[in-house]
Amino acid sequence: MELRIAGLSKTYENGVKALDDVSLTIGPGLYGLLGPNGAGKSTLMRILATLLDADEGSAFLGDIDMLRSKLEVRRLLGYLPQEFGVYPRISAAGMLDHIAILSVRNEQFHIRYNKGGMALYELRQMIGEDAMNRALRRLLSQYGYAPPPYALVGALRDETPEQYRCLIGDLFEDITLFNNHMQSAQARRLADGKYEVTVKCQFQKLKTDNDGRQSEVPLDDWVEVGAFGKAGKLLHRKRVHVASPGNETKVS
Ligand SMILES: Nc1ncnc2c1ncn2[C@@H]1O[C@H](COP(=O)(O)OP(=O)(O)O)[C@@H](O)[C@H]1O
Ligand SMILES: [Mg+2]
Repeated sequence: MELRIAGLSKTYENGVKALDDVSLTIGPGLYGLLGPNGAGKSTLMRILATLLDADEGSAFLGDIDMLRSKLEVRRLLGYLPQEFGVYPRISAAGMLDHIAILSVRNEQFHIRYNKGGMALYELRQMIGEDAMNRALRRLLSQYGYAPPPYALVGALRDETPEQYRCLIGDLFEDITLFNNHMQSAQARRLADGKYEVTVKCQFQKLKTDNDGRQSEVPLDDWVEVGAFGKAGKLLHRKRVHVASPGNETKVS
């Protein structure tokens, strides 16, 4: 099979033009892509590996349009990037199983794709910014800027007090979904001109196992409830402790 790259260009959001009209054709065989640091080698590899979108140009592997038929490319292509962390004390087969499970999860629960940031935000609310920063600083001094993922979770667990430990499992290890909704809200004007808002909510916490089966689990969580004014302006928010599944909770 032949790899045909034509007119490929990529400019990153910060304005760096990493690829400028790259064209080349590669036949079967073993090739090395050489160039100084910053030449754009990794950018080109990431585009071919379907991890990054090009701005312009085309890449065909035989008759497969690599920039469009991403799933087809992923079925054929193996890619081991320069920066790749493996867990210690795990067999190669175990590691592959683990990655396979993660990628299946990613496909099933897109929701999970952005979860890293949300999970870190949520944990920071509970353990505080200092503990969060200590965990991250320790990682950076140990591993530089490419900490293996297990190390991040471990460092965060060390900084998390006992009463919040179950959050680590919920946020980083299991697939946890909350099904929370408001049932009714009432506002009452107080003597001082402020308003008291009473919100009735229903909370449900679900975990999903590796086979995609969902089951309800008991609640012992903190949930943020907020009151919004015109044009979505946040008027007030409050974290409430929710301790029983499917219960009604009043927030004032
Ligand atoms: N995610 C990114 N955001 C912004 N600029 C980037 C990003 N990745 C790489 N670059 C920049 O794009 C250029 C090409 O980088 P890269 O493809 O990593 O080159 P190489 O792998 O050949 O060293 C460099 O100037 C680099 O700083
Ligand atoms: Mg590189």
